[in-house]
Amino acid sequence: MIVAKDVKQLDEALHEARLKNKTIGLVPTMGALHQGHLSLMEQAKKTCDILVVSIFVNPTQFGPGEDFESYPRQLEVDSKLAAEANCDVLFCPAEEVMYPDGPTQLVHVRQGADVLCGARRPGHFDGVATVVLKLLSLVGPHKAFFGQKDAQQLAIIKQLTKEFFLPVSIIGCPTVREEDGLAKSSRNVYLTPQERAMAPTLYNALQSAAQSGERQLKKLVSMVENELSILPIGSIDYVEAYEYPSLKSVDYVEGTVILAVAYQFSKARLIDHILIEFTNRNRGEA
Ligand code: PAJ
Repeated sequence: MIVAKDVKQLDEALHEARLKNKTIGLVPTMGALHQGHLSLMEQAKKTCDILVVSIFVNPTQFGPGEDFESYPRQLEVDSKLAAEANCDVLFCPAEEVMYPDGPTQLVHVRQGADVLCGARRPGHFDGVATVVLKLLSLVGPHKAFFGQKDAQQLAIIKQLTKEFFLPVSIIGCPTVREEDGLAKSSRNVYLTPQERAMAPTLYNALQSAAQSGERQLKKLVSMVENELSILPIGSIDYVEAYEYPSLKSVDYVEGTVILAVAYQFSKARLIDHILIEFTNRNRGEA
């Protein structure tokens, strides 16, 4: 595995692959790698000749008072994990590499960023879209892999690459969970043992609402809210339901619904969602 820290090193690392027309797969991450990230790498490795993983804690997607400073950084452990996952090139640039003149220009996401996490984290998806655009420009992958766990992010990135005519396929990969249902996340390390024990309630609440067969989005939302209200600690940040992937607000859905929750524990803010397909019969899917 080649570790590239700047643009020149990245270009050198990819030179031969580009000459030989090898297919390049990119997995962008902010590090603190876990099974979720590794599953994206596995998927990329299966369908591409060269796997590029990026690790960059992107300042422009964090708001004031968020966890940019304290976000877990563990490059040595991550390099080992990436190498074990057969990563060919690990790109871990410093802030000056990604923003050489500071963030003087940002992509502005005008649709789909005003609901769910976007409504609570103003400018977050502008930062995500900006850094993903930069990474796609630098690496020039044929395919880039993102988790369905961050379904809003995935929908926005698909739209970004479509609107900017970027020659890349965006591949959405299933959410990897702990045995008790908690979605794997770099932020789970912030949970206290008591919070960790309660965290699976998020997914359980989403699932039982999905299994009810209810089609009125307001009712689905109240079912989840009721179930979460029994938690003795933390607070609901939001429970929302929209048509997916348009993220439009509707009363009643015929196609796919995203039912999503964000829950604030003492330090960790956890997000989770479920996609419910209403066709002949409903079925819940993570
Ligand atoms: P990060 O939170 O590190 O996540 C990197 C990728 O891993 C994202 O596509 C995310 O959806 C995916 N992922 C996280 N947990 C997962 C899980 N449990 N199962 C499957 N996939 C999972 O998302 C970001 O970083 C950043 O916003 C980024 C896209 C890198 C831009 O900075």
